Amino acid sequence: MKHLITTEQITRAELEELLQLTDDIVKNPKKYADSLRGKVIATIFYEPSTRTRLSFESAIARLGAQVISTENARESASATKGESIEDTVRVLSGYADAIVMRHGDNDSAIVAGRVSSVPIINAGSGSFAHPTQALLDAYTIKRQRGSLENLKLVVAGDLKFGRTANSLIKLMSLYRGMQVYSLSKVGMGLTDDVLDFMRKKGIRHTVCLDWNEVPSDVDVIYQTRIQKERHEVIAVGAEKKDAGLMVITKKVMQRFSKNTYIMHPLPRVDEIATEVDDDPRAIYFEQAHNGVPMRMAILIKALEGK
Ligand code: NCD
Repeated sequence: MKHLITTEQITRAELEELLQLTDDIVKNPKKYADSLRGKVIATIFYEPSTRTRLSFESAIARLGAQVISTENARESASATKGESIEDTVRVLSGYADAIVMRHGDNDSAIVAGRVSSVPIINAGSGSFAHPTQALLDAYTIKRQRGSLENLKLVVAGDLKFGRTANSLIKLMSLYRGMQVYSLSKVGMGLTDDVLDFMRKKGIRHTVCLDWNEVPSDVDVIYQTRIQKERHEVIAVGAEKKDAGLMVITKKVMQRFSKNTYIMHPLPRVDEIATEVDDDPRAIYFEQAHNGVPMRMAILIKALEGK
């Protein structure tokens, strides 16, 4: 059984295998139409999700498997009755061949993995990890850029409470030469966990105060939304005012090269102006679409040999 709990557990060989498999799925989707025929996959989401849940469910359908699902587990499932994650997962392990789970607690996927007899796939655990997003992001970068080495990566937005940028940094650290630039409002910078991680890996990191401090030849600008549901108090108005400093507009994009791609895990609120959507460097919708083949690959690998 293979759980996918954190980004750090993924080896370079596993990542390359997933990237190759995803590529093959994109090229020959029919070949995989029956790959998981007869399997049942549970998707259980304690936090809201559109893309992650539906792209998993689309992936499940495209592999010929069936899905059982609670879209709003926090309100509608036994969590409201006080059931622990452990008990829910123990029960679901008897209903499904794999469990795709999103939960607001940082350690939720770890806890689930300890008790599950079927693969747990972490679809986002608190601000801790979002490994399947990092994998589809890696695939998107590889497709655009060809290589994952010597990546100049800008991470922007809410780097403290978001789980996507830190997961991507950790995954991309499998390749040499990465240089990270971070741009966030005060108090929302990368956490000590990520800063320590980069230090240990020898990844160069520069804090930028505004877009003009970001070198114009960076490869990827990874913008993220302010995770207001994870902030205890946000003064009314302050959020918008501060976030405005980091908004990507047409004007901001003028300073960047033609090979600087803009990514975003979505949902976007207003941190990327819609006027940027037509820019050929804006690849966030394509990135979201890559979620389906990558999640097909993840499910195939998780259930391999079963
Ligand atoms: C992200 C998430 O849930 O972490 N969305 C996603 O999975 N595509 C980002 C977010 O919610 O802002």
